[in-house]
Amino acid sequence: MLRFLTAGESHGKALVVIVEGLPAGLKLEISDLEQELARRRLGYGRGPRMRLEKDEITIVSGLRHGETLGSPIAVEIANTEWPKWEKEMSPAPGSSSSKLTSPRPGHADLSGMLKYGFDDARNVLERASARETAARVCAGTLAKKYLGYFGVQVISHVVALGSATFSDDQLARNLPEPSDLKAIDESEVRCFIPEVAVQMIDEIKAASKAGDSLGGACQMIAYGVPVGVGSYVHWDRRLDGLISQALMSIQAIKAVSIGAGIEVSSRPGSRAHDPIHLDQGSDPSQRRGDFTQDESERTGRAGRPDLKLVVGEPPNSERSGGFIRDSNLAGGIEGGMSTGDPICATAWMKPLATLNRPVLSTVDLATKTETVSFKERTDVTAVPAMGVVGESMMALTLANEMARKFGGDSIGESLRNFDSYLKSIRQ
Ligand SMILES: Cc1cc2nc3c(=O)[nH]c(=O)nc-3n(C[C@H](O)[C@H](O)[C@H](O)COP(=O)(O)O)c2cc1C
Repeated sequence: MLRFLTAGESHGKALVVIVEGLPAGLKLEISDLEQELARRRLGYGRGPRMRLEKDEITIVSGLRHGETLGSPIAVEIANTEWPKWEKEMSPAPGSSSSKLTSPRPGHADLSGMLKYGFDDARNVLERASARETAARVCAGTLAKKYLGYFGVQVISHVVALGSATFSDDQLARNLPEPSDLKAIDESEVRCFIPEVAVQMIDEIKAASKAGDSLGGACQMIAYGVPVGVGSYVHWDRRLDGLISQALMSIQAIKAVSIGAGIEVSSRPGSRAHDPIHLDQGSDPSQRRGDFTQDESERTGRAGRPDLKLVVGEPPNSERSGGFIRDSNLAGGIEGGMSTGDPICATAWMKPLATLNRPVLSTVDLATKTETVSFKERTDVTAVPAMGVVGESMMALTLANEMARKFGGDSIGESLRNFDSYLKSIRQ
């Protein structure tokens, strides 16, 4: 079983993450972690601090000569601004010179202060801050490394930012694949469709001018997960439930959908599922569910132009037991288990609650008077970065379930088990 625990405050000395349960023999370098953390800082609409910030990483344990040992892996991400914060955040006895007594709406501040009996919102916000997601991205990098040995890759892209969003049709025809990740990361808003990216940037510019903030959505896609990961037997091991919880745990995520989950709920059942066929190695274009009318006439096969969210290229049916689908409305999960098709999950983020032009009412708990929310460092939007965190949470969830299914103390042992499973599902 793969477990991880993060520790650390946003402006504390360091963030720490311990990941336990990965097998021995995974090749890992510190640059792998640096690259993923740099991706988390991406995105138009983030403040200057994000561009300047460099994460200083130390791998404290679990790695020797570039390979995992099978023991817990501990990683520290130092706060490069610690000298500035050392007095305010000191663990030694003392007190704050400037207590924050007016909790910001939309944050953990008020409930956290009441729950723990604090008179300083900083005691809450330092831990509730999404800076913690840097530690999750480190853990996610390890999970992605592990999944890579099985040919599993997790990517993400922004599908909505403010009111700029993909049409269903654009999404159906532009589902990115792992080879597209570079282009996505090169987009200032991590959006795969350039014309939608332009609209998103315009939205950010307008919100920035108004001192306001924006939410949006990212889709996470895992390619290569074999059929049967997850469980229909145990309620708490259903893969859709686990992925949803993992994504929902990201700060500011307010909804998660799997595949075309929201859209299919309003359809008749006859048009809401993914018909199964034997893979007879036919022309891949004939297996796709996003036929236009012309294409279906040309191929002579009944087209399903109504089906959205199909995958770009049909997946390798080796991982789905030799069966293929017309579409992937289910987002690669049926009965709480992977089907072998790409796993698609979308996470919806609320607009950031700290505004550069503070207008949200609150109450000063020290004076019991009404005031407006104070300003802590904030961005216009963090949706592009959220996708990188979403990838990490999805990778950690899948790695845990893959580790449960294929076991192994060394990656060699895990891969032997995996290969034998792939053979068994083709019999
Ligand atoms: C990557 C990332 C970056 C964030 N950056 C900010 C920020 O700059 N300002 C802000 O007000 N909220 C930011 N948030 C959101 C807050 O952490 C979040 O609104 C807060 O924790 C309350 O959300 P909750 O009610 O879902 O816990 C960010 C979230 C993520 C995932």
